[in-house]
Amino acid sequence: MAPIILLCSLLYQLCDGQPGPPDPPGRIAVVGAGIGGSAVTYFLHQQFGPQVQIDVYEAERVGGRLATLTVNSQQYESGSPSIHSLNLHMQDFVKLLGLKHRKEVAGKSAIFNGEHLVLEETDWYLLNLFRLWWHYGISFLRLQMWVEEVMEKFMRIYNYQAHKYAFSTIEGLLRSLGGDHFVNMTRRSVAESLQGIGVSQRFIDDVISAVMKASYGQPVSIPALVGAMSLAGAQGNMWAVEGGNKLVCSGLLKLTKANVIHARVTAVSLHNSEKKPLYEVQYERDGTLGSDYYDVVIIAAPLQKTGLPISFLNFQPTLPDYAGSYHRVVTSIVHGYLNSSYFGFTDPKLFPFACILSTDSPDAIFHSLESLCPVNVSVGFRRKPPQEAGVWRVLSSRPLDRKELKTLFKSYYSVQVIEWQAFPNYSTHSSSKSLPPIILHDRLYYLSAAEWAASSVEMIAVAAKNVALLAFNRWFELTEKIDQQDLMHKLKTEL
Ligand SMILES: Cc1cc2nc3c(=O)[nH]c(=O)nc-3n(C[C@H](O)[C@H](O)[C@H](O)COP(=O)(O)OP(=O)(O)OC[C@H]3O[C@@H](n4cnc5c(N)ncnc54)[C@H](O)[C@@H]3O)c2cc1C
Ligand SMILES: *[C@@H]1O[C@H](CO)[C@@H](O)[C@H](O)[C@H]1NC(C)=O
Ligand SMILES: *[C@@H]1O[C@H](CO)[C@@H](O)[C@H](O)[C@H]1NC(C)=O
Ligand SMILES: *[C@@H]1O[C@H](CO)[C@@H](O)[C@H](O)[C@H]1NC(C)=O
Ligand SMILES: *[C@@H]1O[C@H](CO)[C@@H](O)[C@H](O)[C@H]1NC(C)=O
Repeated sequence: MAPIILLCSLLYQLCDGQPGPPDPPGRIAVVGAGIGGSAVTYFLHQQFGPQVQIDVYEAERVGGRLATLTVNSQQYESGSPSIHSLNLHMQDFVKLLGLKHRKEVAGKSAIFNGEHLVLEETDWYLLNLFRLWWHYGISFLRLQMWVEEVMEKFMRIYNYQAHKYAFSTIEGLLRSLGGDHFVNMTRRSVAESLQGIGVSQRFIDDVISAVMKASYGQPVSIPALVGAMSLAGAQGNMWAVEGGNKLVCSGLLKLTKANVIHARVTAVSLHNSEKKPLYEVQYERDGTLGSDYYDVVIIAAPLQKTGLPISFLNFQPTLPDYAGSYHRVVTSIVHGYLNSSYFGFTDPKLFPFACILSTDSPDAIFHSLESLCPVNVSVGFRRKPPQEAGVWRVLSSRPLDRKELKTLFKSYYSVQVIEWQAFPNYSTHSSSKSLPPIILHDRLYYLSAAEWAASSVEMIAVAAKNVALLAFNRWFELTEKIDQQDLMHKLKTEL
């Protein structure tokens, strides 16, 4: 009897019963080939398998805000220079692609208030601690514990993602890491949060404001979560990729054999095939227009006024309703002689710093000024002291004029200027609003939403894996892998 029942039930399934799992998507479009677009391409390829064709549209350069420029036939990072060591996805990519960490070249930092240096790093770590303690008392320790706690919670995401859990909103992702407290950290300022744990106003004014300016070009009113991430970076443990950080992007696209299309996406429209959405992506390449059809579309570029606009033609996705815009940061790469007198060192030979941060004062010329190492550091490389011509990166809120350049540098051979739409302008995000959505429409995803929680290479790589898992879990209706609460507990009992 039993075998017959089995046969019947098999036949039932084959003929008119439940359908099997849906076929994987035929084609996926990714808009943007920065670290977000390249990483999501890799994770999609990993999830859906190599038979799914992935087209990656890039309007300008593969790498996006990971970019280099050339001075004297050497390349230097002109966009995001460094990556935090706790960024496990970036670490994995570098290993996977056979790339290397760039050799570290030690260099000291100081903070300048427009008149004199308010804080100087010394050779000896303990002495630094002692000085900070002397100047700022317990504030410094409280800050360290706070940053450590945030990073420890943030690191949980790698475990969730290893188990293929995804989140349909940024708030949901943050809540799974650190509860409502973490979500609140996107709405509260870093200054307020630090005051709340007893960090002194003086420490915030002298040190925290300089780090926020140098990292994001914005004041201590920026949200606590993004502030904590940049403070984690300021504590060291930063690294860069030998040959340039952008090699990760080109490497991932090559590895996955993605079809990179050098074109600007101008519009997306919606068609239906067999009750499933089919998106038509329209693009412009060298003045000619083209279009193609996709089952899934992922936008890995900022959808803001200041970005390259994408129109949604015959449907209305849930778009981020930000009046919000991106914040300009100007990078000037100067090849020349630093004017160490400006920082109080009349003898350049005695100027010991590789990096100067500026406190947040209205007449500060720059956010930060740093002696750069080329992306390929040879064995004998040493930093050029100010009495020799070196390559310096100056970050500022607007282009430096000739007079300002002449103040910061005794003389120079060349200046190359790049104006970045670098980060969200966090002050345009009112604390009552939620963060932008990830799901804009059924199978249309917005990866860059995560930048409004924190704009960093790390956050974008995490967001890329989340979007790939979300697209996969939703395609195959694996609802138990989406928006699960209390994952900490669940994973402990699963293991
Ligand atoms: C000066 C500077 C310093 C920074 N420092 C750090 C740092 O120290 N540490 C850190 O972690 N982060 C830093 N960042 C931030 C970091 O670089 C970004 O968070 C990250 O690179 C964003 O990656 P993304 O892929 O999301 O976006 P992007 O890199 O901006 O990539 C988006 C890509 O999409 C393309 N694109 C846009 N619209 C279209 C369209 N319509 N059609 C086709 N293509 C399109 C663009 O050309 C671009 O290449 C810095 C950024 C800047 C600018
Ligand atoms: C988060 O913020 C809300 C609204 O301001 C508040 O009611 C709640 O207590 C906060 N939660 C935590 C854990 O900080
Ligand atoms: C720089 O490093 C990259 C990565 O290791 C390598 O591919 C490239 O050839 C190097 N370039 C030079 C000029 O040494
Ligand atoms: C260097 O800085 C000093 C002190 O601010 C200033 O007087 C001088 O004009 C600057 N420029 C040069 C070229 O020395
Ligand atoms: C950021 O937004 C605020 C509020 O809209 C505005 O006052 C400020 O000028 C903006 N900053 C930049 C650099 O765009």
